[in-house]
Amino acid sequence: MAYLMGIDVGTTGTKTLLINEKGAIVSTASEEYPLDVPRVGWSEQNPGDWWRATLNTIRKVLETSGVKGEEIKGIGLSGQMHGLVLLDKDHRVLRPCILWNDQRTARQCQMVTERIGRERLIEITCNPALTGFTIGKVLWVRENEPQIWEKTFKILLPKDYIRFLLTGSFATEVSDASGTLFLDVPKRKWSKELLRKLDIDISLLPECYESTVVSGRISEKVAQLTGLSKGTPVVGGGGDNAAGAVGCGIVCPGLALASLGTSGVVFVFSDSVTTDSQGRLHTFCHAVPGKWHVMGVMLSAGGSLRWFRDVLGGEEKREARRREVDAYEVLIEKAAKVAPGAEGLIFLPYLSGERTPYPDPDARGVFFGINLKHTKVHLIRAVMEGVTFGMRDSLEIIKEMGIPVEKVRASGGGARSLFWRQMQADVYDLPVETVNVTEGAAFGAALLAGTGVGIYSSVEEACRETIRTNSLTQPDEKGKQIYQEYYKMYRSLYPVLADKFKLLSRLVSSEKKR
Ligand code: XUL
Repeated sequence: MAYLMGIDVGTTGTKTLLINEKGAIVSTASEEYPLDVPRVGWSEQNPGDWWRATLNTIRKVLETSGVKGEEIKGIGLSGQMHGLVLLDKDHRVLRPCILWNDQRTARQCQMVTERIGRERLIEITCNPALTGFTIGKVLWVRENEPQIWEKTFKILLPKDYIRFLLTGSFATEVSDASGTLFLDVPKRKWSKELLRKLDIDISLLPECYESTVVSGRISEKVAQLTGLSKGTPVVGGGGDNAAGAVGCGIVCPGLALASLGTSGVVFVFSDSVTTDSQGRLHTFCHAVPGKWHVMGVMLSAGGSLRWFRDVLGGEEKREARRREVDAYEVLIEKAAKVAPGAEGLIFLPYLSGERTPYPDPDARGVFFGINLKHTKVHLIRAVMEGVTFGMRDSLEIIKEMGIPVEKVRASGGGARSLFWRQMQADVYDLPVETVNVTEGAAFGAALLAGTGVGIYSSVEEACRETIRTNSLTQPDEKGKQIYQEYYKMYRSLYPVLADKFKLLSRLVSSEKKR
């Protein structure tokens, strides 16, 4: 039997899994690491933590499965997108990685838009310059840390740094490269025009391949460290959303993926390049060769519930420990005790600014409508509803763009609970289904590896062979109607608060200077 390995270098941790060619999961392992917030709106991680977690989880899946290194026919990588890793000529990491949810680059994004011209930028990259994307981070370092920029020899995305350590190859692939904003997305290659206009030498970037192409092989040193075989092929893989979409079978039109992890992502497949004229959704290359995808990204989806758990959920954490269940389970059970609409409480989930539909680094979270009757339980329900309304915002734009969506596939933490799936079906007014595979991006990366080494003839075939649907939740008439009204109210709030968010942000930064 042939085995495939998928490694997902995520924001909360790295997950590694081993599947057989039928798609059965043989073993999984994950290891968490911290995230630093050196200032409000900044978000960084130490790439050394990813590497340690990668080595440990590879060792663990080999150990627990008993599978031999030589039985693994291919490895696929997936990872949190947009992060900036800088290496010097001796391949040392020059500074902590600036992550996808870091918001420090508003000025640099404006500069990119001015230099390239908004229209031309969208023609080339299919997207406006947003603070989360890598391009602004590169310019931020060049401007603010010239001593680091001078030493920069390579610019890498998180999973591509891990690829380098595994194989010695400097390489990326089109789905993750799209999120740098250095890629000509329609042509699926680095844009020389853009790089020239921004004075960035193309040699700083790695080679860019399609996601199924073998981009390197396991080195002798890594073979010794892990038990993998020297020479095992490592394919391009995908950004976590594209790889996650492959891992849920989003490789054809009609289906949308609603993924509730730290970020909240609504993802649809596209046969051709389709862009939102207002730039609210991202159009990136898919990990399926020659295809694209459109997605909306909320920065704090599951992240909002995690914030709630950590800041206000002490009691629920204790109860969870007592009952030996997950604290989210306890939070969600409590939320289910309140009626839809949380008796007039609405939460805006912009805890770390927002991207879709409001690309606004200054946006902040809000509880709107608190009254004396409200308890903590209402707050929990409002957080979940606010996050789900934010996901609907993306579905609304997808609809406006004329992209058909007949069904939503739920994935990530938000897919695990039937209660949250029902809430999603009611808020989206669409059937919500789940699939047999819950490993998302790591699983998708393994399928991309299987395609790259010829076990499957295409990514579509890999999905057909391995993915089945296993639950379907229809919208409930009553819930749907209530949410329709609350959604309208939710939607009306950001526009009236946008100016106030700016003022608040100025207030906070002037206070710091004092
Ligand atoms: C996508 C994005 C996030 C990260 C999270 O544009 O920023 O979904 O990829 O890992």
